[in-house]
Amino acid sequence: MRTIAPAKVNLHLRVGPPRADGFHPLLTWMVTIGLFDTLELERTRGQGVRLICDRADLPAGPSNLVCRAAMAMIERGRQRLEGSAAAAGADESTPMVGGVQIRLTKRIPVGAGLGGGSSDAARTLFLLNRWWQLGWSQAQLVQQAAALGSDVPFFLHEPSAICRGRGEQVQPIASPAPRWLVLLSPPFGCSTPDVYRAFDQLEPVPGWDTEPDWAAWTQLDSTRLLPLLVNDLEPAAFIVRPELGKLRDRTERLIGRTVRMSGSGSALFTLFDDEAEAREAAVRAERELPDLRARAVELCPNLDEAG
Ligand code: C5P
Repeated sequence: MRTIAPAKVNLHLRVGPPRADGFHPLLTWMVTIGLFDTLELERTRGQGVRLICDRADLPAGPSNLVCRAAMAMIERGRQRLEGSAAAAGADESTPMVGGVQIRLTKRIPVGAGLGGGSSDAARTLFLLNRWWQLGWSQAQLVQQAAALGSDVPFFLHEPSAICRGRGEQVQPIASPAPRWLVLLSPPFGCSTPDVYRAFDQLEPVPGWDTEPDWAAWTQLDSTRLLPLLVNDLEPAAFIVRPELGKLRDRTERLIGRTVRMSGSGSALFTLFDDEAEAREAAVRAERELPDLRARAVELCPNLDEAG
């Protein structure tokens, strides 16, 4: 079984002071973009998870979010199997859980604030639940997703949602009116814990939990929406990585539009209503800033068509 897992950007990201558990309360609008990892799942004998990743620098062991997602589903299947065997003996409705090999092809940059690992994990949960007929409800999947990471539940509600709490409370909303995004990927990543640590050294952001009129925002074209968008982690990320702040300023001047950071960085983006304009801006950004990878991607793509 082959599937794709999309990246996300945080169009708008407000962050409050740290909670007692160390996490930060968020108010964020997340959307998927047309940049995908690929997962190929294959049954294997036994009960284990084998992850093969085309990037040698990523852990392919039990610490990988995809492995943790698959292990959680195997455990769930084992419990169900034991439950039904104890109740009535196995029959054709008993879920068949085995081992699984997952071949992961990464295209989403790592350490970029694009949620690649979270998206891969969410697809793994969703697909194994269906494949092995584990019978987990959407609410149970979301609970498991939240245990894996703050961004994972969003990917069970893509393509467009407002996320609160530490990111795990997800409210789907309409997709934004602009259909195109220019994604600017610097040649380095940002460490999320480092950025949050730097954030804690700064003055708290007043009014971070003010709810915009989300329904109205979804209707705005790119030139009206862009000036309203905020990412409260930008000052912290630009302290951790001063070259990222400079790059943001240069790309804003070059493209002539507001450029925002996604999540805790390092990816930057701007929005367009028109595909040709987006492609032209991406070409220009790459020509002027050779260290930067720039691509025009669709916002909230239809995964059936994209696959
Ligand atoms: O939940 P996740 O594993 O993605 O979080 C990674 C790190 O990012 C956390 O260990 C924490 O340092 C920081 N974080 C946070 N508040 C959030 C989400 C993440 O402080 N809402």
